[in-house]
Amino acid sequence: MASLPMSRYKPALAVACLAAVCVSAGAQTYGLGRPLGEREVAAWNIDVDADGAGLPAGSGNVTRGRAVYAQVCAACHGDKGQGTPADALVGGAGSLATAKPLKTIGSFWPYATTVFDFINRAMPYNAPKSLSTDDVYAVTAYLLYLNGIVGDNTTLDAATLPAVRMPNRDGFVGDTRPDTANVACRHCSNGAPGH
Ligand code: HEC
Repeated sequence: MASLPMSRYKPALAVACLAAVCVSAGAQTYGLGRPLGEREVAAWNIDVDADGAGLPAGSGNVTRGRAVYAQVCAACHGDKGQGTPADALVGGAGSLATAKPLKTIGSFWPYATTVFDFINRAMPYNAPKSLSTDDVYAVTAYLLYLNGIVGDNTTLDAATLPAVRMPNRDGFVGDTRPDTANVACRHCSNGAPGH
């Protein structure tokens, strides 16, 4: 990038500007930081798509998940996933269209793959990313079992997890509104409040 002529470099910089953290135009560097290695990038590149793309190698079963859950999840989500103090993860089947919908991974979430993704990146709440990949597969399997979605002899991995069909898979509608693009604007003179 540093060897690009200025005329080609400038537009790229404009796009790369984040709020107040703009690199001044110019090819000079400041001797800060270092290039990340592939393994370092891979450690942060953990997103899993709904179709299962990005699921890591590894596997876990319901039996192991039961032990993981009791040890690191039950204190916040209840011993059977019923919730309190944190969200219920189990139950709520058939409640979504009622006056008191109970949204859980069993009643609400459309994909099992994104349950894995969420637990893998965010849980346990007090120590995210502390579980091994196998234990994330295992606790996902256990929660799906508690919701009656898989059997108690289930083992999940990158091939079997995307094949799990969630009860609310067809309960969402697409947003048909077109994307819009706002022009970045500070101190504009168009009189719009807050600008
Ligand atoms: C210290 C308390 C705590 C622990 C321990 C904990 N969680 Fe959570 N969990 C939360 C809180 C708080 C939220 C809501 C987070 C949010 O909305 O950003 C949550 C949300 C979730 C959700 C999403 C619920 C939904 O439908 O929106 C899942 C799934 C989940 N936790 C799974 C787990 C699993 C699996 C473990 C154990 C590996 C775990 N949690 C451990 C506090 C905890």
